[in-house]
Amino acid sequence: MSLSVIVLAAGMGKRMKSDLPKVLHPVLGRPMLSYVVDAVLKLLPKRVVVVVGHGAQEVEKALDSKEITYVTQTERLGTGHAANCAHPALKSFKGDILILNGDFPLITPNTLKKFVKDHQKHGADISILTALVEDPSGYGRIKRDEGGNVVGIVEEKDATKEERFINEINSGTFFIKSSFLWNALNKVNTRNKQKEYYLTDIVGSAYKNSLKINGSVVLDSDEVMGVNDRLDLSLVESILKWRTNESLMRSGVTLIDPETTYISPKVKIGRDTTIYPNTHIYGNTQIGRNCIIGPSTWIEDSKLGNGITIKSSCYITSAVIRNNVTIGPFAHIRPEAEIMDGAKIGNFVEIKKSKIGQGSKVSHLSYIGDTIMGKDVNIGAGTITCNYDGINKHKTTIEDNVFIGSDTMLVAPIRIGKGATTGAGSTISKDVPSDSLAIGRARQTIIKDWKRKPKEKGRSKGK
Ligand code: UD1
Ligand code: CA
Repeated sequence: MSLSVIVLAAGMGKRMKSDLPKVLHPVLGRPMLSYVVDAVLKLLPKRVVVVVGHGAQEVEKALDSKEITYVTQTERLGTGHAANCAHPALKSFKGDILILNGDFPLITPNTLKKFVKDHQKHGADISILTALVEDPSGYGRIKRDEGGNVVGIVEEKDATKEERFINEINSGTFFIKSSFLWNALNKVNTRNKQKEYYLTDIVGSAYKNSLKINGSVVLDSDEVMGVNDRLDLSLVESILKWRTNESLMRSGVTLIDPETTYISPKVKIGRDTTIYPNTHIYGNTQIGRNCIIGPSTWIEDSKLGNGITIKSSCYITSAVIRNNVTIGPFAHIRPEAEIMDGAKIGNFVEIKKSKIGQGSKVSHLSYIGDTIMGKDVNIGAGTITCNYDGINKHKTTIEDNVFIGSDTMLVAPIRIGKGATTGAGSTISKDVPSDSLAIGRARQTIIKDWKRKPKEKGRSKGK
């Protein structure tokens, strides 16, 4: 059966007190809306319509997905009005429509699949995903009759004292026959405390029309936790962190301290890899087997092979690191760095847009940028590729088996030929042929029998 989806994501998120649209606030490094969109895409929907409004352009840019149709809600008139904004985009779609909020990132594809199946099994006209919770405050409450049939939803602000005690809440997730949906939305009014068009009112209207309503209770109420303020955000982050860390540990990854290890659920890590505390791994990152990472390391959008050691306090983004490489402590590996097998990057080294060849070593206090480096190169401490002339960036090529002496300035564009050596403290601004020695520094001068003037008497030290 084909279904389409409406995700409501136009709200301001007033309670976040933020310039960033609420649905873009990150949870483990990704906008919360991405989690919702990923989950619904797993249902293979015909169409996914995201209703945007506040910060619309930012939201579209952040999702950057071709599978989504965006519609704009120009005024924030409530969830019912927002859903209705999707009507023109779904006019020709006659199947059932799944509507959900963009602010509940813990929802899983499995729960949505089960919800859709339940709806079909019951032959329902409208289904609501609900949850039983200890503290229902802030949520709409599900009203049932004595027979347990859902009769409506009442928002907290409109609820009576008694209704507020109801602990079955509305997750904001509905699956509805499209023929009923558009009709019902047109009839929703703003006669409530918030003077808004409530999507939730269509449940009462379905009841009045004797339609078949199915209230499906979610097994794990965490999944439908909505984020309205920054406290909710931190709770959701810690739940997702545990969920992700638990599944990593079960798959054979050691986390020394899962409490302080932050890994996005999209990240893939091979077995027998050990992650030390205070490490953050985000984005589209893959890490192989038998690696040791951290403590206090940040890795984002990077691909790491097997047998790698990343020591304490490294910062690695958009880089590729092949097998058996050692990095750090305190190294900065920047975008488009590619570190080949067996290479070693030591402390206080920055690598940007450079290839470090197999078995090459950049062990101490160096900057390597816009460089192609061959195999088994040794870069002495304090070496800098001077790649920027104030206007343009220039390339450095260092061929196999080169030995760069400590404190060498390589003024790009420049090529250091195979097996060449540079003397320590050199400024090298011309190409160096293979197997030669280049020295570019002032000759040392010795002035014999030279004495410093004796200190004047009566002066105190330090003045
Ligand atoms: C809503 C439900 C409530 C439910 C809760 C679940 C209504 C009236 N209330 O309340 O029953 O328990 O979600 O988390 O539906 N949005 C728009 N345009 C608008 C208003 C909201 O696109 O004009 C979007 C928001 O971006 C958000 C979603 O709709 O993603 C829900 O809005 P929010 O204001 O958070 O609703 P709640 O008060 O949480
Ligand atoms: Ca909400």
